[in-house]
Amino acid sequence: MPPRSLPHKPDCVLVTGGAGFIGSNFLLRMVRRYAELQFVNLDKLTYAGNLMNLHSIERESNYTFVRGDVGDLELVSKLFARYQFTSVVHFAAESHVDRSIRAPLAFVQSNILGTVTLLDSARRHWDGQMDTCRFLHVSTDEVFGALGEEGYFTLASPYAPRSPYSASKAAADHFVRAYANTYGLPIIISNCSNNFGPYQFPEKLIPLVILCALDRRPVPVYGKGENVRDWLHVEDHCAALEKMLTHGAPGTTYLVGGSSETSNLDIVRLLLNLVDEAMGRAPGASQELITFVADRPGHDFRYAIDARQTQKDLGWTPSYSLEAGLRQTVNWYLTNQDWLNAVNDQSYQAYLSEQYSI
Ligand code: NAD
Ligand code: DAU
Repeated sequence: MPPRSLPHKPDCVLVTGGAGFIGSNFLLRMVRRYAELQFVNLDKLTYAGNLMNLHSIERESNYTFVRGDVGDLELVSKLFARYQFTSVVHFAAESHVDRSIRAPLAFVQSNILGTVTLLDSARRHWDGQMDTCRFLHVSTDEVFGALGEEGYFTLASPYAPRSPYSASKAAADHFVRAYANTYGLPIIISNCSNNFGPYQFPEKLIPLVILCALDRRPVPVYGKGENVRDWLHVEDHCAALEKMLTHGAPGTTYLVGGSSETSNLDIVRLLLNLVDEAMGRAPGASQELITFVADRPGHDFRYAIDARQTQKDLGWTPSYSLEAGLRQTVNWYLTNQDWLNAVNDQSYQAYLSEQYSI
C-alpha cells in the first residue's frame, strides 16, 4: 500500500468562508504562493463576509468566487462535480459568541448542517481516491470549554462546550471525526485560539477597541475584564493551516495557539496605548474610555493552548510577538479608512446599540 501521500499537493481547493476574516487572510497568502493550484471561494456573504478583503487577488486566474451557502447540498454537489476538488479548507461559520447567545439557530444551520453537507459531498465525490484528498476543518479551542487559573488545553482535553457557538463548533468537530471513522474521510482538524489582525469584523474585542478608541467612544469591557484569552496573529494561524494542508497527517487534530495569554483588561489597556501612540495623542489619553459593562452570560473564564505537539509535528511557530502583532493591527486599521467606512454602516451601528447600552 502506498504511503498516505505526504506531502499533500492539492490541485483544486474549495475554501469556504473565504470572504471572512481568517478565510480571506488565508486566500491572500495562498493564491499567489501556489499559482499552479486553483482556489474556489464559496461564501454566503453574511454581515461578516466582505469581498473588499480579496480585492488584490480577485483577478488572479487561479481564483474564483462563488456566492452561496455551504448548507446548499445541490450547489455544493454541483461545485464538487464541476471543479473536482481534492481539498476543502472549511472556514465558513457563524463565529461570534455574543450573536450565538442572541440567535443560536443560525449557528446550528451554518456550523452544523453546513459542515455535514460539505462532509457528505466530499465523501461521495472522493470515493476511491480518499488518499489523495484532504478535508481541513477550521475549528476553535472553545470546544474544550473553559479553564480555571491553571492548566492548558491538550489533545487529551475532553469536549465541553459552554456557549451556543462553541456547542455548534463541537458538534461539527464530532461529525468531522465520525466521517473519518465511518467513511475513511481524510480529515484534519485545527483547534485554534483567539485570532486578531487585518480584516477582522469589529464585533470582536480587538478591532472593536481600536474603532472605539479612534472615535473616542466608550470601550465596553465585560465584567471586571479578568477573563483570559490566548491571542494569535491571523497570519500565524494561516501559516499553520498551510502546513496542515500540505504536510498534515490525515486523521490528526492540531492545537494552535500563540502562547500569549492576556487578561482582557490588560490587552485593552495595551491597545489603547498603541492607538494613542499611533494617533500622536498624549500617553494614557484613551484609558478613560474603558467602561465596565454587564458580563457575557456564561462567559468562559480562560482559554490557553498547549501547542508544543503542533509546533514539533509541523515545524511551525508564531512569528509575531503579541505587542508587534497588535501594533501591526492598529496600523492596519488606521491606514485602511475605506474598509472601515464600508464596515461601519447602519447595520453595524444597529448591532452596537442592540448589544451595548452605552
Ligand atoms: P468570520 O465571521 O469573520 O467569517 C465567516 C465567513 O463565513 C464570512 O465570510 C461569512 O460570510 C461566511 N459564512 C457564514 N455562514 C456561511 C454559510 N452558511 N455558507 C457560506 N459562507 C458562510 O469568521 P472568522 O473569524 O474568519 O472564523 C473563520 C473560522 O475560524 C470559523 O469556523 C471559526 O469558528 C474559526 N475560528 C475563528 C477564530 C477567531 O479567533 N476568529 C479562532 C479559531 C477558529
Ligand atoms: O478562542 C477562539 C474563539 O475566539 C473563536 O472561536 C471565536 O470565533 C472568536 O470570536 C473568539 O471568541 P471570544 O468570545 O473569545 O472572542 P471576543 O473577541 O468576542 O471576546 C474576547 C474576550 O473579550 C472575551 O473574554 C469577551 C471579551 N469582550 C468581548 C467583547 C466583544 C469584552 O470584554 N467586551 C466586548 O465588547
